[in-house]
Amino acid sequence: MSHTGPDRRAFLTAAAAAAVSASGLPARVAAEPARVPYGAAVNHYVMPSDGLYRDAIARNCDVVVAEGCMKWAYIRPERDVFKFELGDGLVDFARQNGLKVRGHTLAWCEANPAWMKSLISVTDAERLLVEHIEKTVSHYETSISSWDVVNEPIAEKPVSRTHLRPGVWHDLLGPKYIDLAFRTAHRVAPSQQRVINEYGIESTTRQDRAKRAAFSTLIHDLKDRGVPISAVGIQAHLNAANEIDKDGIAKFCLDMKLLGLDVLITELDVNDYTLAADEDERDRMVAACADDFLGAVFSACRPALVCTWGLTDRYTWMPTWFKRRDGKPNRPLPLDAALKPKPLMGVITKYCRPT
Ligand code: G3I
Repeated sequence: MSHTGPDRRAFLTAAAAAAVSASGLPARVAAEPARVPYGAAVNHYVMPSDGLYRDAIARNCDVVVAEGCMKWAYIRPERDVFKFELGDGLVDFARQNGLKVRGHTLAWCEANPAWMKSLISVTDAERLLVEHIEKTVSHYETSISSWDVVNEPIAEKPVSRTHLRPGVWHDLLGPKYIDLAFRTAHRVAPSQQRVINEYGIESTTRQDRAKRAAFSTLIHDLKDRGVPISAVGIQAHLNAANEIDKDGIAKFCLDMKLLGLDVLITELDVNDYTLAADEDERDRMVAACADDFLGAVFSACRPALVCTWGLTDRYTWMPTWFKRRDGKPNRPLPLDAALKPKPLMGVITKYCRPT
């Protein structure tokens, strides 16, 4: 059997499936309960003015990640202008409160500055991507322990296992933009955790299953080429109306661990926009959905991190795209808008901070 390529992939996938089915789900990965760091994405706009929000982050989180201010649009408003002040503010807050910081994100098809629309040359694109990663990773080398190096590389509705998402980097450089991003990040800061991050792979829907298969294929191929990935990020923007593919997620996580990768839950929240209006009922269903998902993950591995995409319903991206017909606020996060814990916080505590 060759130690790379399809033979190895088939072996690893079969081993993962065998390990899961032999042990039965939920297989406990370890007898002793151990703490898993919990974190949240932070909205830098409101940090300066909302002291109760800052206190809630410091009190509840081990890790923070910038919801927006470390994306290209903020760091690089002009081609030759790097602005790290907003990210530095988050790093300072984290340092003052003993929190770790994740970086999000070095290569994505969204949240790029307007001037990049005129980017047309391959050489220019390659030089820009390398320079951005060199400067940004170097700037935060001693303060950021983990980067989402490539975000959302898989097509929204993949028609094959190799169908990648269009975007400035893919359109100009082809799939090798992923290799280039990871190799550059590794060259600049070899000890940092380098994550490939994806959403929409968690449920039993045909689309999620196709995305998960394509994501797994991409990761195996990258590992076969010796691309220095160290972790996989499952974003976990869950929809409470969709069933979690518990077996599929467990096998995926085990497969990633067999590849030698850490597994991170990077952007957990639960979309409740189609659920009934009653808040207690919605909170219960949101918690149950997250419990199904985290139960599947923890049945196969101990993730290196569980991070929600926001801490409180007071500040969530969700209504931008998923506004409820009844006009009621979405309730996707662990704390309500008054910063009070909801059942979802209890689920996170059950898995991340077992007594
Ligand atoms: O900064 C401008 C502000 O000046 C302007 O007044 C305002 C109104 O147009 O827009 C502000 O920028 C918005 C930014 O969020 C800050 O609120 C952008 O238009 C808006 O597109 C941006 O949305 C963010 C989105 O990523 C795109 O970057 C969301 O807040 C953020 O939650 C979302 O996060 C993504 C992850 O990065 C990747 N995974 C999916 C996740 C959810 O979409």
